[in-house]
Amino acid sequence: MFQKFGIANSILKTVAIYLLVSNALTSFGKEGMWLPPTLKNRETDMKEMGLEIPIEKIYNENGTGLNNAVVLFGKGCTGEMISSKGLLLTNHHCGYGTVQGLSSKEKDYFANGFWAMNPSEELPCPGLTVTFIRKMENVTDLILVGVPDTIPDKQRDDIINAKIKGLEKGYRYTTKYDATIKPFFNGNQYWVIITETFNDVRLVGFPPNGIGQFGGDTDNWMFPRHTGDFSLFRVYAGTDNKPADYSPNNQPYQTQNFFTINAGGYKEGDFTMVYGFPGTTKEYISSYQLDQIYKIADPIAISLRTKKLNSWTKDMDASREVFLKYTSKRAGVANAWKKWQGEVRGLRINNVPTRKAQYEQGFQAWASSDQTYSFDEDILSNILVKSLRVNDVLKSELYINEGVMGIELIAQAAMLDKMLHVIEAPGLTEAKRSDSVKKLAKSLDGYFKNYDVSTDEHLFAVLMPAYIDEMKANIPAYYKQTLAAYGNDYKAWAGDVYDRSLLTDKNALQELINEVTIDDAASIRNDDAWKLYHAIQEYRKTNVTPFIAEYNKHLNYYNRLYMKAQMKAHPNLYPDANLTLRLTYGKVKGIDPEGPEAYAFQTNLDEAIAKDNPEAEEFKVPQKLKELHKTKDYGRWAVNGTVPIAFIADNHTSGGNSGSPVLNGKGELVGTNFDRIWEGTMSDLYFDPNLCRNISLDVRYTLFIIEKFGNAGWLLDEMKIVGK
Ligand code: ARG
Ligand code: GLU
Repeated sequence: MFQKFGIANSILKTVAIYLLVSNALTSFGKEGMWLPPTLKNRETDMKEMGLEIPIEKIYNENGTGLNNAVVLFGKGCTGEMISSKGLLLTNHHCGYGTVQGLSSKEKDYFANGFWAMNPSEELPCPGLTVTFIRKMENVTDLILVGVPDTIPDKQRDDIINAKIKGLEKGYRYTTKYDATIKPFFNGNQYWVIITETFNDVRLVGFPPNGIGQFGGDTDNWMFPRHTGDFSLFRVYAGTDNKPADYSPNNQPYQTQNFFTINAGGYKEGDFTMVYGFPGTTKEYISSYQLDQIYKIADPIAISLRTKKLNSWTKDMDASREVFLKYTSKRAGVANAWKKWQGEVRGLRINNVPTRKAQYEQGFQAWASSDQTYSFDEDILSNILVKSLRVNDVLKSELYINEGVMGIELIAQAAMLDKMLHVIEAPGLTEAKRSDSVKKLAKSLDGYFKNYDVSTDEHLFAVLMPAYIDEMKANIPAYYKQTLAAYGNDYKAWAGDVYDRSLLTDKNALQELINEVTIDDAASIRNDDAWKLYHAIQEYRKTNVTPFIAEYNKHLNYYNRLYMKAQMKAHPNLYPDANLTLRLTYGKVKGIDPEGPEAYAFQTNLDEAIAKDNPEAEEFKVPQKLKELHKTKDYGRWAVNGTVPIAFIADNHTSGGNSGSPVLNGKGELVGTNFDRIWEGTMSDLYFDPNLCRNISLDVRYTLFIIEKFGNAGWLLDEMKIVGK
């Protein structure tokens, strides 16, 4: 919504101008991530743009809406049903962590891919969940009735949380599903979300990295793009078709709600919708919070992650074993790192801080003259005062989080610290102590599976100086003393820490856990990793956390009131993303972010092959794909002598929308969302339709790879494919 004021150069002084400008431009661009039950309000607009089905088909509560075909995949991605037998389509990068758990040097699915040739070959994925949204209902009136706006937040939270607990219980009882109530618009609205979660989910198909991660981190957040970013899973249910723990007797989940696939393609200008779970946006924050992101948080995180990535990559390039351990972790670190760079750049070249400030002037003018708005404090000044004071502390927190705690050994020492508390807890029986320590140690296998001691040791010698050089005197005394004792030699310091710590010696640690006694407290207190962890946490507890907590408390209060006022000034806002189901719509559209040469809206296989580089891990096209290309063995999926791969559109998406179905005007699936262009990643803070594009994988490439590359054509038989 803020771009409305971008074109106004002069300060908007009067309410009349303010409203005029805002109304004149609301039809500009398709910003918005709408809650499905509220789409009725947008029906006219959507139909004008190309929607051909009733809104009720997109969302309804009688079990037949497309909302039943979109799922939260794992903890932060989207997936969709594409057959009546629980077949699920999502991104390659969404399945990546799970597949790493199933892979080994002998079964290297990243190098070779994985294709089940029949249901019995589908691989169970322990820990993976898939959540369906059955219904969403606005319960604001029930939650906020009798809760004054201006009582202290603690008191307000207590009242609201008690109501939420009671209501959720009621909904669980009456619907026989799970129910969660979440705040929207900074606590000015509440919705209950009725869900059903399945936990027997199996891997069905996964292209090798040469397809599914083609272009790697180099091409990530970029267009033109040639990544076949998809994977296939299947949801299994008990014999009653209800969620059940893994069992070989479970059956594929039966559903009438799945997407028809349209393989007939689309043209530039065609209507598209993206249905999924965007995670976090902050479209309504003040210019002061924007400044903190733009000037403090993003730059610090970018610089520390640059160091981390360089250090990790060196070790990963030198050893396939290290590569396998760190590939998923690195992808995660690199992903946000690159996004933030695009964000900072987008904010800068668009003058977003200035536009925000102008918006705020308009807001102030409205607030002081609107007859129906009365709040006797100046919200924005209240936010400003505290924001300025907290900046140094924020910097310290970031350096601790991304720097010190970015070293795996120190982060993992949190577990030792918990063990220590258990061991030293007064009055524990030996059996209880042993039991609790064993529970804490549960995550250790996963930790060691993906941990390489010397890789982390090298990182220590990079991040520790970055932290200490920047924060100078503002660091724990223990750090100062230890560094001095090593004569400022970080490598020597690291050498001893990694040599001696229990956290680098799985056997010694296991022994301690198996036969834990009260005497082990001393070994933990003596552990170098624990000492580093303990010292930084103590420092944080006194010098950082209380100030940030105080600031957040203040901010929560004023942000809630600010949001409420903005909603009054601008009816029909959409709520910021919060990992709940949303629909966004736009059109297929190329872009020209840099100069006159516009990106075409679509890429194809010929271009991917042209990028092949056997020397570069990220750009190695698998041999078999090259052969299919050479013989033009594209089957039904050929378009103009090649196969389309990816396309862009101006849908307003965010992280979490990965894997989302991209639909045409009939609600048929034409692609899978997997990214945004780098130039537009600021859309989490400020959406500009001229710069923002989501990137989707063309479903014809998905089908081509499954059938011709994976030889898993049996899967196509259960899909409903039209347009071909
Ligand atoms: N940028 C995409 C998203 O935010 C894809 C990330 C995965 N790919 C990668 N090369 N790290 O999740
Ligand atoms: N790749 C992102 C995800 O995992 C989607 C891209 C975005 O942030 O828009 O959700």
